[in-house]
Amino acid sequence: MLICLNGQFIPQEEARVAVNDGAFLYGDSLFETIKARHQQILLLEQHLRRLEQAAQLLKFPYPRKQIESACSELAKHLTTPASRIRLTLSRGSCQGLLYPAHDQGWFLLTAAPYDQINERHREQGLSCCLAPNQRVNPFSHLPQLKHGNYADCLYARNVAHLQQADEALFIDHHGNLLEGATSNLFAVIDNQLITPPLGNLVLNGVMRRQVIDAAGELGIPSSESPLPLADAIKANEVFLCNSLIDLVPVSTIDGKSINRGGLWKEIHKRISLRIDP
Ligand SMILES: Cc1ncc(COP(=O)(O)O)c(C=O)c1O
Repeated sequence: MLICLNGQFIPQEEARVAVNDGAFLYGDSLFETIKARHQQILLLEQHLRRLEQAAQLLKFPYPRKQIESACSELAKHLTTPASRIRLTLSRGSCQGLLYPAHDQGWFLLTAAPYDQINERHREQGLSCCLAPNQRVNPFSHLPQLKHGNYADCLYARNVAHLQQADEALFIDHHGNLLEGATSNLFAVIDNQLITPPLGNLVLNGVMRRQVIDAAGELGIPSSESPLPLADAIKANEVFLCNSLIDLVPVSTIDGKSINRGGLWKEIHKRISLRIDP
């Protein structure tokens, strides 16, 4: 694994977090998970913009120029066909619950080989269960940010794992689907693409935006509106997306088979041309 701390490459054994770091004590960090193909980091500008918005909202130090130059250095060292890059921001060491001074912050880039989903598996689709936990506080801004406090998502993801499902889907108390534990969700109903609206409980996914834009280019109407579970079960197709998997259709939700339309494939092709020609 490649490790770059504040722009300096260091061996993994030397990568340490202080015991009083807010990222460790309170999960108070921000992060992005980004894909690279060969030495090209995909959609970096979009990831950095989202990180910047989160940093502004939560008042994290955000040394954008240094992060950008560290990313281009990192890219030169990538040797595998695909890599998973994680960018983490911390405010640094805490004294009590007060935010530390800005100059204590750090950023970390790690890069590890990423095994891309093969086309046969993509065609097979993903089995999904429903997350038993809810993102209960609709006024919290954490679910809309990639904040280190990812307890909801970790819990849901592990429930999926225990049930031998590929992903867990969050649902709100009205019975509307929101998103996956690590992905955004789309359904095709009457030839229209529907995705749950951004709000306090849905992450503004980088790939979600790509899907909406690619659909627009293909002349496919799309709408950001509530998606009742019952509608998704009857939809022509349902698919999930994130920056690592791109788009993958859903085969089952909670044991019920989902129809298998083919619009996701067209959109996927279009996105591949846009971001990785
Ligand atoms: C909760 C959640 N929603 C959506 C996504 C998809 O985001 P992106 O497309 O930016 O990878 C992720 C990615 O990890 C996520 O954790």
